[in-house]
Amino acid sequence: MDLKQHIRSIPDFPKPGILFYDISTLLAHPQAWQATVDRLAEAVMEHKPDILAGIESRGFLVAAPLALKLGLGFAMVRKKGKLPGKTIPYTYDLEYGSDTIEVQADAFHEGQRVVLLDDLLATGGTMKAAAELLRQSGADVRAAACIIELTFLKGREGLDIPVTTLIQYD
Ligand code: PRP
Ligand code: MG
Repeated sequence: MDLKQHIRSIPDFPKPGILFYDISTLLAHPQAWQATVDRLAEAVMEHKPDILAGIESRGFLVAAPLALKLGLGFAMVRKKGKLPGKTIPYTYDLEYGSDTIEVQADAFHEGQRVVLLDDLLATGGTMKAAAELLRQSGADVRAAACIIELTFLKGREGLDIPVTTLIQYD
């Protein structure tokens, strides 16, 4: 199954000059989506996770079916202010300004092996921040996996964990 043919590219979104890779068409195709989840599952299992983590919001779409398939729980890495109870925040720099993500303080046990999931690796800023946040919350971050990687942005070079991606654009 050629997964790339199920990704739609939309020019000038969200800003002029940006080519947006849209997974809606992949999600809408059950066989292609099944193949995506199966391939990610194989990669993720190599790292023997105790739990998965998905990054809001499209990362939830990836983490939830994978966790079910692998018989694992999953935790949400959310944008600030969305999670109830005690949380651990992490603020990171963006091109203009900054952003804060958080997890619930009891989401991970000390030393728990976690694999991080998102739909797309671009600059890697989001993934790097999520990995740092999980470490601060005591997790042992083993790896990351995404459906799509924009290799020309070299996001993986800024990460100190192995990253598996299924579809690359350069
Ligand atoms: C997109 C994408 C990744 C991130 C990748 O999320 O889903 O999470 O950007 O970019 P980076 O590698 O340069 O950090 P977005 O912030 O658009 O939000 P969404 O998932 O809620 O749609
Ligand atoms: Mg996202």
